[in-house]
Amino acid sequence: MSSTDIRPELAGGLTFPPGFFFGAATAAYQIEGAVDADGRGPSIWDTFSHTPGRTFRGDTGDVAVEHYTRYPEDVALMEELGLSAYRFSVAWPRVLPEGGGRVEQRGLDFYRRLVDELLERGVDPWLTLYHWDLPQALQDRGGWTDRDTSARFADYAGIVHDALGDRVRHWSTLNEPMVSALLGHQSGAHAPGIRDAVSASRAVHHLLLGHGLATRVLRDKGADHLGITLNFTPMSPASDRPEDLDAARRLDGQQNRMFLLPVATGAYPEDVVADLAAAGAPLPVEDGDLEVIGAPLDWLGVNYYFEQTVRAGARPEGMPPTSFIGGEDAVELDPEGVTTTMGWGVSPEAFTRLLRWIGEQAPGLPLVITENGSAWDDEVSPDGAVHDPERTDFLLRHLAALRTAMDDGVDVRGYFAWSLLDNYEWARGYAQRFGLVHVDYETQRRTIKDSGRVYADLIRRHREQG
Ligand code: NOJ
Repeated sequence: MSSTDIRPELAGGLTFPPGFFFGAATAAYQIEGAVDADGRGPSIWDTFSHTPGRTFRGDTGDVAVEHYTRYPEDVALMEELGLSAYRFSVAWPRVLPEGGGRVEQRGLDFYRRLVDELLERGVDPWLTLYHWDLPQALQDRGGWTDRDTSARFADYAGIVHDALGDRVRHWSTLNEPMVSALLGHQSGAHAPGIRDAVSASRAVHHLLLGHGLATRVLRDKGADHLGITLNFTPMSPASDRPEDLDAARRLDGQQNRMFLLPVATGAYPEDVVADLAAAGAPLPVEDGDLEVIGAPLDWLGVNYYFEQTVRAGARPEGMPPTSFIGGEDAVELDPEGVTTTMGWGVSPEAFTRLLRWIGEQAPGLPLVITENGSAWDDEVSPDGAVHDPERTDFLLRHLAALRTAMDDGVDVRGYFAWSLLDNYEWARGYAQRFGLVHVDYETQRRTIKDSGRVYADLIRRHREQG
């Protein structure tokens, strides 16, 4: 089967309005490697990944896909795919090795070179300030559990804007604060690996406060395309039993509403505030915080991968610890049907529903799909190509689902596939491949997968249609 034979009816029939853009996304620690280069300081992910037992096979981001030195080749791949935009993150510990204080110009210079390369090849840079790699020095002072980290983040945002504001237009403060806060501090599955409800709820609020304070600084410096990237997992009850309905409400509250509503409306959902207080882990809100957090944005980044069905009850033996505060009595059910190598279900219909819901909750706020993608067991075939029909199918079905939401009136401006390249999938290591481009980790050789070629065809047709 050649790449373009796959669901051609879907690929050919998919059209998007003029001005809609297509890109791909990555994050610093997942691709850069070069963790000791040019004065970079350690981050919580260096510490976590080097702690035995924390990541799959002990994989770390020490080498990753060597993007720090191979970025010209990677930008050339973006051009070959025809991407209009590239979403990447800046590593805070490259810019401020100790978290604050001394600025490392060599770290900033790397991002200047990267951005210049992108602009030269006609790719619009979308910069994320925080994709989970907190400087270890700040963690040593409490990390996101400490209110001062929010202020440090705003300082860092200003420094990066001073260096890159002349060439980067699109700025995002945080990537997936839900994951930083709850996987980092409640389940401990991510750095810094803490399992403590009070720490988790403090991290939630301080991340959001950091977003608000950084937004203020960036606005003062003239940023006018400013957003945040949130991850959403639609939660459905396993039955209409009141206990199941309540379990789904609570998980939906912490997964989706606790992050969307404060940034979009300036208020936490009341039921979530009550749930957290009842769990002995109240949000540490101070006067004026919500006004800062709810400052107007220009766009909202939406990351979507899968939906989840939830039932009430004790978590079965062997199930990983919950990432929800007070969520010990709620169980996420195994997905039905096809699952990706991450174990996630495939549900484009839930994507359409989610986008409609976000559109209702945040009217007037343009949306950008900042991540969507799937992991499969890909390999280079004897013919030299990488045949990944599952990823192509996932991509096209999710683009069709997105198009349906747009037809229903949801204002979505662009789509970033996750990910440009196979890369370091955090605690799941290198075993999970999300790229449109395959990476051979022995040789660092890049090969565009069939799905990447289908995406490139779709982008080319979109451009031709003007
Ligand atoms: C969300 C994260 O932002 C990204 O870093 C991660 O690799 C993907 N989801 C896939 O899990």
